[in-house]
Amino acid sequence: ALKDLAKFPIGMEVSAANQERSIFNYPSQLPTIEKHFNSLVAGVIMKMSFLHPNENEFFYTDADKLNAYAIDHNMLLHGHTLIWHWDSQIPPWMKKYTGDWSAMLNNHVTQICTHFAGKVSSWDVVNEALDESDPSGFRQSIFYQRIGKKYIENAFVAARKADPNAVLYYNEYNIESSDTKLNLLLTMLDDFKSRNIPVDGVGFQMHLDLFNPSIDQIKRSFKAVADRGYKIRISELDMPVNYNSTLVLSDAVAQQQKERYKSIVKAYLDSVPESQRTGITFWGLVDGESWYNFIGLPAKEWPLLFNDDYSPKPAFYGVAEAL
Ligand code: XIL
Repeated sequence: ALKDLAKFPIGMEVSAANQERSIFNYPSQLPTIEKHFNSLVAGVIMKMSFLHPNENEFFYTDADKLNAYAIDHNMLLHGHTLIWHWDSQIPPWMKKYTGDWSAMLNNHVTQICTHFAGKVSSWDVVNEALDESDPSGFRQSIFYQRIGKKYIENAFVAARKADPNAVLYYNEYNIESSDTKLNLLLTMLDDFKSRNIPVDGVGFQMHLDLFNPSIDQIKRSFKAVADRGYKIRISELDMPVNYNSTLVLSDAVAQQQKERYKSIVKAYLDSVPESQRTGITFWGLVDGESWYNFIGLPAKEWPLLFNDDYSPKPAFYGVAEAL
């Protein structure tokens, strides 16, 4: 089992894109989850619009159920995510909010972290706040527009205060692919460190493909963050491969995917010191449930480790061999 091969948590995103096949409605997936994984993350139900549907209303029922399942099965539940710009997952009331935005977001973070304190051991506090194509370096999200870049540090300070034991992550994509974006991240982290803003780790999403970035670049990026002492999780690993829009996954491509997964896991082991390796999470279990198959791509995708019948793909063995 994957979790027995690793010295750090092996995680997966549950209740993927297709809500009807969520973990609770679709129990046939549970044996595979319980065999291989010891860490879970909710793909959707712990995002802003789900946990905080109205200004004075928080909704914890579904997340608590997932949390109880994780605790029952000796799995960690990683919280994803307190603040994210994705339009459809920002609650409508928030978009229309006209009061004090800093106080409002502070309350959002405080309430949620307080509710899950002692049960959710780590959080993606802020997700995807950087944008290398914007002159400011920051994504022009509604949070940035209302508050400025200070919303990021405010969120970390509020999270630490509400749950001093939670491990707090900044989560981002393309920091292993774009040196410009990596440098924005490092500048932000160095600034935070100089002012004691509590960031414990960095989540590298790593929605990758077969070719880019190079393994060398991935290693350099891990190392730059690891050298500064941060914990590093690979937080959303997956790998679409169907760039030719074929109807079936050929053996050749499946092998390429295996080798690529293997070298990515090796890169993590080679460049992040053991004490800073806090886990690898795959963004879903079976290919058919991957978010890539629900975002309108021209063809089916096979980004994950398992076939739809839960049999392991070559990619699975690539990860297992590297671990
Ligand atoms: C995706 C989920 O997988 C989808 O089900 C949802 O509709 C949209 O969000 N980066 C992230 C994740 O940080 O939260 C995203 O998850 C994928 C990209």
